[in-house]
Formats: sequence, C-alpha cells, structure tokens
Amino acid sequence: MKDAGYEIAIFPGDGTGPEVVREGRKVLNALAEGGPAPWHASEYPGGGQYYLKTGREWEPDAEAASRSADAILLGAVGWPGATLPNGDIAGRALVLGLREGLDLFANVRPCRLYPGVLHRISGAYREVWSPKHVDMVIVRENTEDLYTPARGRLRRGGETEVAIDSRIITKKGSERVIRYAFELARARPRGAPEDGVKRLTCIDKSNVMEGCRFFRETFDRIAREYPEIEKDYAYVDAFTQWLVRNPERYNVAVTTNMMGDIVTDLASVLQGGMGFASGGNIGAEHAMFEPVHGSAPKYAGKNQVNPFATFFAVEQMLRWLGERHHDARLLTQADRLERTLGTVLSHGGAGTYDQGGHATTSEAGDRVAAAIRGAAA
Ligand code: IPM
Ligand code: MN
Repeated sequence: MKDAGYEIAIFPGDGTGPEVVREGRKVLNALAEGGPAPWHASEYPGGGQYYLKTGREWEPDAEAASRSADAILLGAVGWPGATLPNGDIAGRALVLGLREGLDLFANVRPCRLYPGVLHRISGAYREVWSPKHVDMVIVRENTEDLYTPARGRLRRGGETEVAIDSRIITKKGSERVIRYAFELARARPRGAPEDGVKRLTCIDKSNVMEGCRFFRETFDRIAREYPEIEKDYAYVDAFTQWLVRNPERYNVAVTTNMMGDIVTDLASVLQGGMGFASGGNIGAEHAMFEPVHGSAPKYAGKNQVNPFATFFAVEQMLRWLGERHHDARLLTQADRLERTLGTVLSHGGAGTYDQGGHATTSEAGDRVAAAIRGAAA
C-alpha cells in the first residue's frame, strides 16, 4: 500500500479518446469524494493528431511518466492521415510501443453482458441474454506473434514485390500469458455461466500452424500445474461460431496476439458492442488500461460515443492496483464502481446512440457520477 497515493498517467490520445477519458476522470473524481483520493492523475497529450501538429508522437515527459506511473489509462490513438514515415500509424508509441516497451504481455479483455444492455446481432436491439449467458474473459498474448517488427518489404528497382510479416511465437511469451490465464481461471469465483466449471479454453490453429502447435504444447504443460481447471481447446475458426452460438460455455480463454485481436472484437458484440469492451494490458511491473473501441474519428467532437468501456477500464485499473499493492481502499472503490455500473445499466442501460438512445457521452458520465454519489441512478 502506498500512503502517498498512486500516480496515474492519462493519455487521452486521438478522436473520441479525450471525450471518454474526460468521463472516466469524472467517475474517478466522484469515487474520490468524501476522503483523500488514494491516487493522483496527470494528463499528457500524444497520438496521431498531436503528431500532425508537432511532428512528435508525444513528449519526453509523457514517455517518462509512462515508466514511472503506477498505472496508465489510455483513451485511443489513430487518426486518418497520421502516418509515420515508415508507414506505421502515428501514435503507435502510445499503444503498441508501450505494450512492447513496458512488456505488457497479457491483454485481458472481459466480456460480460450486463442486464439492461442490448446487443445487436442481426441488426436488432435485443435483450435475450444476460450475464447468465455471457460472462467470460479473453486473454490475448500482447507482445509477439504477427505484431513484432519481424516484417518488411522487398523492393526491387523501387517497386514492392513482396511484403512479409513473420509470426513469432516464443516459449517465454506463451508460458507467461498461459500461466496468467490459468491463474485467472482459478481466481474467478463463478466459472462458466453454463455449468459453473472453471474452464480455460486454448484458442489456436494448431491443426495447421507450427507456432500454434507450440502454443498448445505449452498450454498442456502448464495445465499440469492446474489440475482443478478444465482444459478446453478450440481451433480459432470453429471458436468464432461456438462463441456466438454458445457463449455460456466460456469462462476464460487464452490465445495468441492476432487471433486475440480478432476474436475479442467479435466477442464484444455479445456484451453490447465496443461501447462496453475494456482491456487491461498487464505486465509484471506496469499496466495500461483502455477502452478497446479506438479513436472512432467519425464520432470525434460530437459528444456521442458510449463511455462505459472507459468506466470498465477504470474499474479494471483500480482492481489491478488494489491487488498489486494489497490496498483494500482501491479494491473497495473497484467493487463500488462495478456495482454502480451494474445498477445504472439495469436502470435504463447506457442510453447512448449505440444502444438506440440519445444520451450524450457527458450525460452518461453524469449519470454514473451521480449514482456513485448515492443519488438515484
Ligand atoms: C486493439 C487495437 C490495436 C491492435 C491497434 C489500434 C494497433 O486494434 O487494441 O485491439 O491491433 O492491437
Ligand atoms: Mn483490435
């Protein structure tokens, strides 16, 4: 426990990032009322829009803060036309750069459908599911696979003939993320919604790819340390249909980076859409929390997007800090936030456009902040 409080570095980033981060801070402030806040938050500019303006992705003090902070909250990065000379997105330093630089090896993406939240499978707004059906966590490896710099182009006579991305799967990278997922499956109290079984699903393509065969071998080896966890396997193609058809079966799933990127976007539909999907990028020493939806340039400046993903990211952040520092104050705040989000959602949902409503981003934030203060949700 840190008596002096925890340093939270906030990177609002691009597009709708600053809009959802503003609401996230509103919620943090509401939680801190009535006592000295056990945290201190500082904001730093950066991202693609910042790059277009300044020629730099961020400033040295922001980079230093990412290393010295106890936790990082990221809005989103990416802006049309903001590209680095090598073709990468400007602002990558704040996402992919930090995942790599701070060795944030596990990308932990909860997928839970709260009562009052509608999903839009087949384009209709429906509420046929609940946490009784959708309540899982997908753990995505976050530092290797197709995301390493083992890529490039063969240009002959100035013309690109071949573009190559190499898939890197390492023993160390697989072991630590798989172990993280087993620990999570052990710690989660409820198990799979269908049968309460503490199940860990390994998602791969080991019927074809060598890297996936290695990943699955590692999964089986580590599984021996966790006899109480049910081992489960899914080829990624089959997983996509089972996920939609029978989400009740899934408790915790673990997979490689690129497959995890894809299946977590798909899974977000089951939890009401990207407006509810949060992710924690977790390492041994550092962690960064973010809404998964990205900068959504189309909606930037309109005060329209759903800030709940950021609220869930804040909840994940407080819980991670609380567990890491054995600090009951933060765990209490995380529980309080989770309860409040559940209550607000069950009383009229998020209310934002993605849920068929007309509430603005700031109105959604106001409702949650008011509910935290004990006013009617
Ligand atoms: C995500 C995003 C990132 C990724 C992009 C913005 C680089 O899609 O966090 O899932 O590919 O990991
Ligand atoms: Mn993604």
